[in-house]
Amino acid sequence: MRNSFAPMEGITIYCYRNTHYKYFGEGLDYYYTPFLSIYKHHSIKKRDMREILPENNAEHGISIIPQIMANDADEIIWALHYLQERGYDEINLNMGCPVGTVVSKKKGSGMLQDPDRLYEIFSKVFDDNITDEIKFTVKTRLGLADSHEFENILPVLNKFPFGAVIIHPRIRTQMYKGTPDMDMFRWAYENSKNPVGYNGNIFTPDDYKNIVEKFPNLYEVMMGRGLVANPGLAREIKNGKKMSFEELKGFMTDLQDNYKIEIPADESIMHKMKEIWFYVGNLITKEDGSSAEQLIHKIRTAKNIAEYRNAVRAVYRECIMKTT
Ligand SMILES: Cc1cc2nc3c(=O)[nH]c(=O)nc-3n(C[C@H](O)[C@H](O)[C@H](O)COP(=O)(O)O)c2cc1C
Repeated sequence: MRNSFAPMEGITIYCYRNTHYKYFGEGLDYYYTPFLSIYKHHSIKKRDMREILPENNAEHGISIIPQIMANDADEIIWALHYLQERGYDEINLNMGCPVGTVVSKKKGSGMLQDPDRLYEIFSKVFDDNITDEIKFTVKTRLGLADSHEFENILPVLNKFPFGAVIIHPRIRTQMYKGTPDMDMFRWAYENSKNPVGYNGNIFTPDDYKNIVEKFPNLYEVMMGRGLVANPGLAREIKNGKKMSFEELKGFMTDLQDNYKIEIPADESIMHKMKEIWFYVGNLITKEDGSSAEQLIHKIRTAKNIAEYRNAVRAVYRECIMKTT
């Protein structure tokens, strides 16, 4: 069973991935890129290109799986060739993004509304020899409005030799809220002809244990928000070593520095860091055992870089890791 860091647009960009890998990489087998949009006439944005350049990835020793967003067979085939030529042997297709502007273009989870069209797309993709040479995987939800839609989607996926079908067992309308539908996930786990991956709501080593005990033949466990909130989670799952406050400080400080490679304006880096603090804040408490909420709030509401730095310093001075 392999463990991976989920694609998270705006968060797990290469600066984040490399910093994470440096501190906590021993717990993970793969990192996904956030989705790379594949445009008609076969192009990728410059910003997305930087997500896959060897100097931003492999040269750091990290194993990357690019994720693409496309709903047209020719575009998918083009992207598979393009990425293979750049050294990638596994590529994932996004069939889960719930955002309105994506779904309205029938991309992301919007692809799930028409299983016949899915069949057409994948027939063409798997007719291309590239799929013999690389592993092509999908990351999907259970449906748009009802989990039972997956009863019509899985049979389509079963017709093709995907490297893996990674399932986030929610429907599009849930976004990232509500409980994953584990009954429907079990049905998929038992009926998929392809290796199955699980993704969703793993926030603690116990959550992970619970999933792998219930589904021992999983091919992959993918973690997203749980890892952003506790960057040391996968390492702790692997060898029991919890992240220390010193490590968290080192990670956050390096992350801020590494963002400078991609993001020129200090102000924009501050916004990124605030977003990360939003997740990480739950991990810590004040030294006297009282809540660190107010200190984190100061970081989140800092109006300028000086205020931000002061707020972060206060957290570093006054906080420790929560023990539970
Ligand atoms: C801010 C944010 C950005 C995301 N970006 C992507 C993305 O680019 N591609 C994708 O397949 N899923 C994306 N997701 C979904 C996550 O990969 C994952 O499926 C979801 O967070 C549920 O898993 P978790 O409970 O482990 O976080 C994103 C989620 C969030 C919260």
